[in-house]
Amino acid sequence: MLSRRPVAPDYPVPLHNVPADYGGRYLYLRDNHSGEYWSPSWQPTQHDLDHYECRHGLSYTRISSARLGVRAETLYFVPLGETLEVWRLRVRNERGTPIDLSVFSSVEFCLWDAQDDATNFQRNYSTGEVEVADGVIYHKTEYRERRNHFAYFACSEPLAGFDTQREEFLGAYRGWDRPLVVERGESANSVAHGWAPHGSHHVRFRLAPGDTKEVIFLLGYWENPDDQKFDPPGSAVLNKALVRPVIDRWLRQETVAAGFSRLRESWSSLLSVLTVETPDDDTNRMVNTWNPYQCMVTFNMSRSVSLFESGISRGIGFRDSCQDLLGFVQLAPSRARGRILELAATQLASGGAYHQYQPLTKSGNDAIGSGFNDDPLWLVLGVAAYLKETGDEAILDEAMPYADAQDSPAPLYEHLERSLRYTSDRLGPHLLPLIGRADWNDCLNLNCFSVAPGESFQTTANVTGGVAESVFIGGLFVLAATEFAQIAGRRGRAADAAGYRAEAEKMAHVVTEHGWDGEWFRRAYDHAGRVVGSAENAEGQIFIEPQGMCVMSGIGIGNGMAVRALASVRERLATSHGILLLQPAYTRYHLELGEISSYPPGYKENGSIFCHTNPWVMIAEAMVGHGDAAFGYYKRINPSAREEISDVHRCEPYVYAQMIAGPDAPAHGEAKNSWLTGTAAWNLVAITQWILGIRAEMDGLRVDPVLPAAWAGFTATRRFRGATYQISVRNPDRISGRVANLEVDGHLVNGTLVPLAPSGTTVHVEAVVR
Ligand code: GLC
Ligand code: GLC
Repeated sequence: MLSRRPVAPDYPVPLHNVPADYGGRYLYLRDNHSGEYWSPSWQPTQHDLDHYECRHGLSYTRISSARLGVRAETLYFVPLGETLEVWRLRVRNERGTPIDLSVFSSVEFCLWDAQDDATNFQRNYSTGEVEVADGVIYHKTEYRERRNHFAYFACSEPLAGFDTQREEFLGAYRGWDRPLVVERGESANSVAHGWAPHGSHHVRFRLAPGDTKEVIFLLGYWENPDDQKFDPPGSAVLNKALVRPVIDRWLRQETVAAGFSRLRESWSSLLSVLTVETPDDDTNRMVNTWNPYQCMVTFNMSRSVSLFESGISRGIGFRDSCQDLLGFVQLAPSRARGRILELAATQLASGGAYHQYQPLTKSGNDAIGSGFNDDPLWLVLGVAAYLKETGDEAILDEAMPYADAQDSPAPLYEHLERSLRYTSDRLGPHLLPLIGRADWNDCLNLNCFSVAPGESFQTTANVTGGVAESVFIGGLFVLAATEFAQIAGRRGRAADAAGYRAEAEKMAHVVTEHGWDGEWFRRAYDHAGRVVGSAENAEGQIFIEPQGMCVMSGIGIGNGMAVRALASVRERLATSHGILLLQPAYTRYHLELGEISSYPPGYKENGSIFCHTNPWVMIAEAMVGHGDAAFGYYKRINPSAREEISDVHRCEPYVYAQMIAGPDAPAHGEAKNSWLTGTAAWNLVAITQWILGIRAEMDGLRVDPVLPAAWAGFTATRRFRGATYQISVRNPDRISGRVANLEVDGHLVNGTLVPLAPSGTTVHVEAVVR
């Protein structure tokens, strides 16, 4: 049985994070007696609204407002499994007298190619086509020729009018805050031929005091089979027979209500995979709801279309998506499986990978290409996480092509081997991995030497070198090779397992020899073989990435280097707002380092708190048994904990942001680029798997918490491979350390691994920190 929990409430979206033109989907309410109008949707008109609030929930947005005794609430969501967005408007009369109201809807249609749409006006102003039939506006530009898809905009009420030409709706020289049609209270019934196709319905109704009216709008997308595009066949009239039943169904209040409940139920089921009850509310709020939610959003969108990226310049990242899997895999393993295979198919026969690929076509992004030398290693980590969560070893036999060798598919197992070989075949003078275009830090471009203004550091031709090496990739390789050795061993490939273990050891040795600076791990060697991230450098002496990654891979744990490196992080990189990416920040442009020094000090890769990397240090601290340090870092960037300083943080208090400005920037503590960041996945891993210590492993569930001393303990419920684990951890002596005794269903076990339980059973785990 799934344990069901009530879904968390929704939270306000800070208005500066809602761009004024948010999607161009508006509603207007008009008091037909006075002629006053206002907007109960995105972007209020210039009128002051009482209680205007935009709230974000799990897969929905709710905007509420009140004005002149009219209370309105608009709910936006996409029902599961549908290609349409519901807007449910509820309007209530809170005056003592009846009101005559108009509602106008408004959307601008995109002409299918966002780049072309924003640039090629000489063509686009002549292509627009629509149909209006039975109250539904169909946007069908280019449908007559090669497209089989169209958009529709429907309304549940009889229409008093409509518009499909933007200029008719807005009127000359007017903006969305003052559309002519709304001001006048009457639609123009325009039918767009060219120019800017747009959709607007006009609904009129009278509301008695205390009454509520519900109006449903649907904004949808539909594809017709090629041989059923027109009705009658041979005409240019859109065949509506297939989409109409869908529209009719979703225009009904019951369907919408049921669809919204299903969405909420699906979330409460997803979120019940892991629930925790800790002494810290910010931890509970993030772990139980918002962090996994963000992992889902990140998994779906990667770093693509969002408030911070228009979605037309890049695809979804290879390394990004592999890392997103780490935080997502337990939510929907079968989707994770599909993503893994998709990623493997964008790998190249060399073992390298397209840096990005288009989520719709699945094809690699040629403009960006390949050569980011860390990319393929992340696939090994993603697959390892999937195997631990599911035990589905059959995935290793799935034959997938390489992007540049479509007709010679190879089992996933071989893809992973090629990933590792890609690194071990590309070593530099110190036998550290060559960095290529860049490693995890896209902006550390050691072979780039760009002098042309505006040139993209990511795509410019690189100087061939064979010298620039990455200590970070060295650490990542050790981690990936160790994971793969375990996978190989389980497959009965003892020789492979031994081989990769030996390679991991060798690389760990090289990192210790050439990657250690005395008090921390170095970052890299540049094109001329000079060290980067060393006390020898004037700027950029210490970077966070190798400290986190090397310790996570186990390097230096046995010989004191790990603890020393973490102390350096604390002394040189830690701030009250989180851990900086590097210090001192670069104050001038370093030709030999690339984009990293193009950012003003304190921003982005040049010394901000680039949040994605912070959990690596949390994990590293937990691995060496420092519960207080690990949790302390966790709290510094926990968005919920930062709610108290919202005036500084200025981002949603439930979403991780990509970066928080460092002390070298004027706005230290100000967060930017929320939602689509690897921080989501890694933070969930850090808090749940390393601080709370609940980790899926190949042979069971690890319960190995490293708690802060202030905690008396916590409880958790984890669904894992069909069984439910009820975990209770006590910390009677308030130790910042790890568990000594584990009892499983009343029996003491050796170590901290809870063996796999049969599907359907419930296992009780009691742990005590001593
Ligand atoms: C961006 C990229 C990610 C990269 C990070 C650091 O978030 O999406 O791939 O690792 O920046 O440069
Ligand atoms: C820019 C950003 C970096 C990102 C890269 C790729 O370089 O600074 O964070 O990873 O673009 O999109």
